[in-house]
Amino acid sequence: MRKKIVAGNWKMNKTLDEGLALASEVANIANDEITDDAIAVLCTPFIHLSAVGKIVAGSNKVFLGAQNMSEHAGGAYTGDISADMLNSVGVNYVILGHSERREYHNESNAELASRVDAALANELTPIFCCGESLEVREAGTHVDFVSNQLKESLFHLDAEAFKKIVIAYEPIWAIGTGVTASSAQAQDMHKALRDGFAAQYGQDVADEISILYGGSAKPANAPELFSQPDIDGGLIGGASLKARDFVDIIKSY
Ligand code: PGA
Repeated sequence: MRKKIVAGNWKMNKTLDEGLALASEVANIANDEITDDAIAVLCTPFIHLSAVGKIVAGSNKVFLGAQNMSEHAGGAYTGDISADMLNSVGVNYVILGHSERREYHNESNAELASRVDAALANELTPIFCCGESLEVREAGTHVDFVSNQLKESLFHLDAEAFKKIVIAYEPIWAIGTGVTASSAQAQDMHKALRDGFAAQYGQDVADEISILYGGSAKPANAPELFSQPDIDGGLIGGASLKARDFVDIIKSY
């Protein structure tokens, strides 16, 4: 059975105090209300990780995630954070290749491949993001475009390593825009990606990979999205900043 995961991507939001209040609220409601069907991951800004880690320590429902990390182990990389540092504050998951990082920081598929390796070598689970722009979607080449992102960053892994990856499909045109991909559009892409994994690694491996949907997911549309056979959860931006909305999305399972 694939893991059902709902990860909150706080992006560059919340002061430390605000973030601690949000994390405590999520942890309280989630520990009471969410069943064993799904887990929550809080992907906070770096400066919150250590303190939020203490709030969620010991929970088997709420885990800690970072929004990025360096491919380097350490050294003269001003402003970067290593896998080792994330480990030292209890981080379990790390978002890699979010479209905002690809766009504003020119992250390439090759660079992301190195980050995936560094994360796995340090027992961090990558939440690997992929997704196409509106232009690519309108040209009808979205499946090829996204498949290529995954191929160039992930297909060097052997099957055992690949099984540790979580995928987040996030059409760029749906991120923060209020426009959600329809459940059929999302399901079609998730199925195409899973078929690609099956071709590369075999159906058994493909069936173990959690593929999350991201892009304006909220309590109102999550039940329909999550009812699709190849959608195994969500990567939630805006709606993860309100504890009630975030937990309600998780409870959509
Ligand atoms: P959104 O962001 O839910 O605000 O659209 C999703 C994401 O970028 O992870």
